Amino acid sequence: KRSIRDLDVRGKRVLVRADFNVPLEGGRVADDTRIRAALPTIRHLLERGAAVILCSHLGRPKGQVVEELRLEPVARRLEELLGRPVLALREVVGPEVERRLQGLAPGQVALLENLRFHPGETANDPEFAAALARLADVYVNDAFGAAHRAHASVVGVAQRLPAAAGLLLERELEVLGDLLERPRRPFWAVLGGAKVSDKIGVIRRLLEVCDGLVIGGAMANTLLAAQGHAVGRSLYEPDQVERVRPWLERAGDRLLLPVDVVVTERLEPGAPSRVVPVDRIPPEAMVVDVGPATLAAWQERLRGAGTVFWNGPLGVFEVEPFHRGTFALAEFLADLDAVTVVGGGDSVAAVQRTGVADRIDHVSTGGGASLELLEGKELPGVAVLPDAPAQGGGEPA
Ligand code: 3PG
Repeated sequence: KRSIRDLDVRGKRVLVRADFNVPLEGGRVADDTRIRAALPTIRHLLERGAAVILCSHLGRPKGQVVEELRLEPVARRLEELLGRPVLALREVVGPEVERRLQGLAPGQVALLENLRFHPGETANDPEFAAALARLADVYVNDAFGAAHRAHASVVGVAQRLPAAAGLLLERELEVLGDLLERPRRPFWAVLGGAKVSDKIGVIRRLLEVCDGLVIGGAMANTLLAAQGHAVGRSLYEPDQVERVRPWLERAGDRLLLPVDVVVTERLEPGAPSRVVPVDRIPPEAMVVDVGPATLAAWQERLRGAGTVFWNGPLGVFEVEPFHRGTFALAEFLADLDAVTVVGGGDSVAAVQRTGVADRIDHVSTGGGASLELLEGKELPGVAVLPDAPAQGGGEPA
């Protein structure tokens, strides 16, 4: 794909689609991973004399202005990280936005208001895409986390302006592409999270390409049920049991499930809990984490891995002490002598909270996007970008 390195941006206004869909707490950015991840592209453009107009969605405001979802806190954090002012606009498009951007000089940065305040964004409305395109001379997509959405700022604008991939988008595609095409073997994946039904496609694909697959979290309960275990009051998907049963037979010992689990009767911080083997889950209890024998068995197998990809928590990690399995996995992966790639909001949060992020080879900014890519789907935001120019001839934008 054409890269921002192929563009001449001097004196141009560059519209950069970023994924600043970050958690907020008390009007401040609670985790700035995604903002930091966009800095290389922003700096690259500023250093080359571009005026940078950033845009992003935040949450799912459904085409209306929702005060708590304004991008102002993102602008403030970005100012601190960049060490220069960021003009935070209170509208997405329109004459007032155009007027204020008229004055934006090379080296200056502006941030449009939350794209999803406008109903045209998720609808990929041509008029809205055209209004966005009018704001700039060039378009750069650096929003890997949103590349699976065929929205106006991801697809429509790219069709209306000279377009290229930003440095973050390029890096994500390279790392996740390598994972599928030439992983260092043995290649293992660890999947967790609530629902098997959300991840059917990716599990199928991973069972084909991986040397082993580990499944934890509530989605493992559905597989335990398919193995014939009673899962008590645990979260699971009865309608998926028949669908997943063939995997158990086909994958054999390449598919690892919990052998013991932490159960509780009340999902509250500090609630009494105990560890039971998976064939003794009491009818009144629910599974909230993997047990120590499970962790030990999984670590034994993963120790020999060349590559490990991890997506999704192993338990209800937001309720202490049911975070233990998930945190233990994060720490184990950090120390592992393998290529480690972590994607998805919750697993990335676990990696941050255990303080091991800098010992993971690649912490992906994409949740749904990384899974769709691994499943083999083409991401609309990537498909729409033009191919890289032939070697030697940089095509000016
Ligand atoms: C994400 O957080 O995965 C991306 O920002 C996409 O958000 P969405 O699922 O609301 O489109």
